[in-house]
Amino acid sequence: MRYFHWIGFLYCFVMTVSCTQDASRFRIGVAQCSDDSWRHKMNDEILREAMFYDGVSVEIRSANDDNHKQAEDISYFVNNGVDLLIVSANEAAPMTPVVEEAYEKGIPVIMVDRKILSDKYTAYIGADNYEIGRAVGNYIASRLKGKGKVVELTGLRGSTPAMERHEGFITAISHYPDIKLIDEADAAWERGPAEIEMDSMLLRHPKIDAVFAHNDRIAPGAYEAAKKVGREKEMIFVGIDALPGEGNGLELVLDSVLDATFIYPTNGDKVMQLAMNILQKNPYPKETVMNTAVVDHTNARIMQLQTTHISELDQKIETLNGRIGNYLSRVATQQFGLYGSLLILLLVAGLLLVVYKALRSKNRLNKELSAQKKQLEEQRDKLEEQRDQLIQLSHQLEEATHAKLVFLQIYLMIFALH
Ligand code: FRU
Repeated sequence: MRYFHWIGFLYCFVMTVSCTQDASRFRIGVAQCSDDSWRHKMNDEILREAMFYDGVSVEIRSANDDNHKQAEDISYFVNNGVDLLIVSANEAAPMTPVVEEAYEKGIPVIMVDRKILSDKYTAYIGADNYEIGRAVGNYIASRLKGKGKVVELTGLRGSTPAMERHEGFITAISHYPDIKLIDEADAAWERGPAEIEMDSMLLRHPKIDAVFAHNDRIAPGAYEAAKKVGREKEMIFVGIDALPGEGNGLELVLDSVLDATFIYPTNGDKVMQLAMNILQKNPYPKETVMNTAVVDHTNARIMQLQTTHISELDQKIETLNGRIGNYLSRVATQQFGLYGSLLILLLVAGLLLVVYKALRSKNRLNKELSAQKKQLEEQRDKLEEQRDQLIQLSHQLEEATHAKLVFLQIYLMIFALH
C-alpha cells in the first residue's frame, strides 16, 4: 500500500511538470474598434512581437465600428480574467465608462491610437493626431500657395483622432487667411460614406481646390466621386495612413490619385513591448507619442522599396516563427513521450520492487519451513530408530522367552523321566 502512495505521488508530479509548461503567464486582450488593413497590420505586428515573449497569449477581437460590440468585447475580456487590456476606442464618449470600469477593477489598460474622454487608463500609445492635422493644414496651404478652397471629410466624429485631426487642421489653416474650409462632413473612416458625402459637396461647390481626407480609405472614395463628374484634376487629395500594399495610401500616391498622405504608424510591436513592460513591472511612459511624416511624389518610390523590403523580412520572420512553432510542438510531443516513458518506468520499477519484496518474504518463509521440515525429519528418524530398537528388543525378548520355554520343557521332561 505504501508503494502505491509513492507511485501516485510520482504520477502527479510528472503530470504537473508536463502540463504546466505551456500554461500562459500573461493573457492579453485586444479590443480593436475596426477591421481594416491598418488594423490588420497592427494586429499582425502585435502577434509577431508576442512570439518573442514566453508564456504570453494574445486574443484580438474586432468591434467592426460598433460601440455596443466593443463594450461586449471589453466585458468578455474582463470576465475572462485577462492580465492586460489593449483598447482602441471606436468612439470616445460611449467607450469611456466601459474602459474606466475595467481600469478600476485593477486591469492595466493601454489605449492605442483612439482615446477615451478620461485619464483612467494605464498608458497611451499612438501618433499625435493634432500634430498630423496641423501638418496636413500646412501642407495643403503650401501646395495651394496660401490661397484656395478646401473641403474636409472626417473620420467618425466621436473618435478622438477625427476630433484632433480636425482641430490641428483648423489651427494650421487659421494662419492662412485665403485658405478657406468651405465644407466638412463625417465619412466615418470609410470609402462608401466618403463617396456619398463628396457627391453632394461637388454639387454644392463649383470650385474645390483640395480635399483633406482623414484617412486613405476616405481619400479614394472622394477621388472616385470627383472622377465620376470629371472634376478629379481640379483638386488635390490628401490622406492619412500611408500604408504600403495594394490599394493603400502609398500606392495611391504613386498612382497620382493622392497628392500626399501622412504616415500614421501602426507600431503593433511597440504596443506589445509597452504591454510587457507594464506586466513585468518595468518602468514605462504614460504617453508614448509616435512620429509622422509626409509621403508625396518625392519620396513615395523610395518608401515603397523600403516597405517592400520590410515586408519581405516580416515574411521571413513569420516563416521562421512557423518553423520554431513546429519545432517547439515536436519538442513538446517528445517531452510528453519522455514523461510518459518516465511514468511507465516508474510504474515498472514500483512493480519490480513489490515483486522483489514478495519474493524475499517467500524465500524467508521457505527457509523457515524447510528448517521446520528438517526438525520434523530428525524427530521422525529418531522415532524410527527407537521403534527399530523396540522391535529388536521385543525380538530378543521373544527369543529369550522361547529359550526359557524350551528350557522349561526340557526340565519338565527330565523331571517327568525321574
Ligand atoms: C483604421 C483607421 C485608420 C485611421 C485610424 C484612426 O481603423 O480608420 O485609417 O487613421 O483608424 O483611428
